[in-house]
Amino acid sequence: MSPPGLPAPPPIGATALPAGTYGGDTVFVTGGGTGLGKAVAIEFARLGASVVVASRNPEHLDAGRSAIEEVGGEVEAVACDIRDADSVASALDAAEARFGLPRVLVNNAAANFPSPAEDLSPNAWRTVVDITLNGTFLVTREFGRRHLAAGTPASIVCVGASYAWTGGPGFAHSAAAKAGVKNLVETLAVEWGPHGIQVNGLVPGLFPHEDMTGDIREGLEQAGEGDGHAHRQPALRTGERRELGWAATFLASPYARFVSGHTLVVDGANWQRRSLVNPSVETIRDQLGRGAFSPE
Ligand code: COA
Repeated sequence: MSPPGLPAPPPIGATALPAGTYGGDTVFVTGGGTGLGKAVAIEFARLGASVVVASRNPEHLDAGRSAIEEVGGEVEAVACDIRDADSVASALDAAEARFGLPRVLVNNAAANFPSPAEDLSPNAWRTVVDITLNGTFLVTREFGRRHLAAGTPASIVCVGASYAWTGGPGFAHSAAAKAGVKNLVETLAVEWGPHGIQVNGLVPGLFPHEDMTGDIREGLEQAGEGDGHAHRQPALRTGERRELGWAATFLASPYARFVSGHTLVVDGANWQRRSLVNPSVETIRDQLGRGAFSPE
């Protein structure tokens, strides 16, 4: 008989923190209209937060707005390209005009697609690093400056990735950028701690959801032959999105005031599943169905 794995979480709608923990607070979530960003935004809203969903995609803004309204939350959807400092400033202006300066920032927006490193064009590399690392810095900088100027406490949660520690074969651009994000968390937690600003990282494991990009979905299907991947996780299950949301709401809550500079991994220990003998080596080109490398 197979062991049971990690137990299922409490049902959708349950919260670990007291009702109203975020009453009077606003949470600004980049990429909050889809996938894990939306899941995180929903859990803040359940606990009473007003939510600002920021995205460059109008459909994603609509999706984020509807999701927050469905759980009874107050929401503002603002257009924002995190690569552009002026766009970031305008988005935070719009957030402030509606709700006042957000107390919490969730840096969730990122870019990613699988590619052997040697196939990445300079622009492909730049694009992912520009969104994932530079964009995260620009939003964090603008948010931090406003709090420093106002002398108000704040909390920042940066969504990371476990390949920040391990390297990410097939994802050189994103892995390097996420390593930068993790490092930024550690730096800013020290720089801004004296000013009352907490900075933490949050790393999701495998949380299947309908907004996964085609590339990522395809990669999972190839690896898992459509069997759901549960048996490949030490937890013997994948994550439920609300579990990531609960972790985010804890990190930014009054109950985690002394937690800063930390990156919390929510993946059922999957990233630590390593040994001297792993599955047979298959090149990234083979895994991605690419032919032999050609410089053309
Ligand atoms: N494989 C290889 N190269 C790709 C690619 C892919 N799947 N998608 C984009 N690129 C390259 C483009 O070819 C281009 O390089 P080139 O000018 O040398 O041809 C470069 O990346 C920029 O692409 P572009 O489409 O202009 O950028 P964009 O700003 O419109 O899009 C992406 C950014 C491509 C990274 C897009 O996937 C994105 O923003 N995704 C966000 C959602 C996401 O990835 N979520 C998952 C997070 S884990």
